[in-house]
Amino acid sequence: MELRAALVAVLLHASALSAQGNIVDLGPDPYVPTPPSVVARMLELAQVKPGELVIDLGSGDGRVVIAAAKNHGARGIGFEIDRSLIREAEAGAREAGVAEQVRFEASDLFEADLSAADVLTLYLLPVTNEKLRPKILAEMRPGTRVVAHQFHLGDWAPDVTERVQAAEIASRVHGERIVFLWTVPARVGGRWTLLRESAPGGALALDLDQRYQLISAKGDAAVAPRFEPMHGAQIRFSVPLPAALAGEYSGRADGDAMQGEFVAADGARGSWRAVRYRASGDRDPR
Ligand SMILES: C[S@@+](CC[C@H](N)C(=O)[O-])C[C@H]1O[C@@H](n2cnc3c(N)ncnc32)[C@H](O)[C@@H]1O
Repeated sequence: MELRAALVAVLLHASALSAQGNIVDLGPDPYVPTPPSVVARMLELAQVKPGELVIDLGSGDGRVVIAAAKNHGARGIGFEIDRSLIREAEAGAREAGVAEQVRFEASDLFEADLSAADVLTLYLLPVTNEKLRPKILAEMRPGTRVVAHQFHLGDWAPDVTERVQAAEIASRVHGERIVFLWTVPARVGGRWTLLRESAPGGALALDLDQRYQLISAKGDAAVAPRFEPMHGAQIRFSVPLPAALAGEYSGRADGDAMQGEFVAADGARGSWRAVRYRASGDRDPR
């Protein structure tokens, strides 16, 4: 068993190396449990709160959702393809006294409905993470936290990358793990019209490109609005021109609308909103 675990760990680490170059499909993801101290750090990093729903894809013996329930008061669902691990996880949940808070589903992780989750946890091979990334971005609500052990999500840059020394593993080399944290951004790509509500200054057409949390406005870079990386639904940007709309803007995106507060160049404050054009026939919100 010791030897098998060591071989699987080597396989996982080899896969991490291959992920830096070409992605190699090594077949179904093997079962290798996350050390408890690393589980604890993942849940801390994701700031799991009482009542939140934590989903672990490929939940193994259930340790991640059990710890989320026991130590953070969360609810949890684990999706796991191996039925013997499901039984182990259910027994573990009963033993930990959290059987009412968690459940385990014997199903393929790609079939999981992620829309209700507040936190998603992953310890899967890079190739699986890459396949999951579009599903995460399409299904999960803005602001959902995704935390992964050891393997990243391809070219989606994490908000936090942290090296963790697993307290249970004597070898410093084998005990060193990486955990990553992402926040699912709202989708804001497309054409918008920005308006100030409390101090009208005309309207500004915004044509936004989005790459994960990074937003840029098309047009002349010298005068185009500049965006900070989005954090979930939160958006912040500065408008240099036209002078009537110049200022610092912050707010939230919600579907085809955004709204928030601005501080104009002269210090005046007020509220703003923006509306997305869905089709050429959409009414101009001015
Ligand atoms: C590296 S282990 C991680 C276990 C657990 N999440 C943890 O961190 O301790 C990956 C788990 O994913 C499961 N798995 C692999 N492919 C799967 C799939 N397509 N659907 C559901 N579970 C899968 C494996 O059986 C294994 O238990």
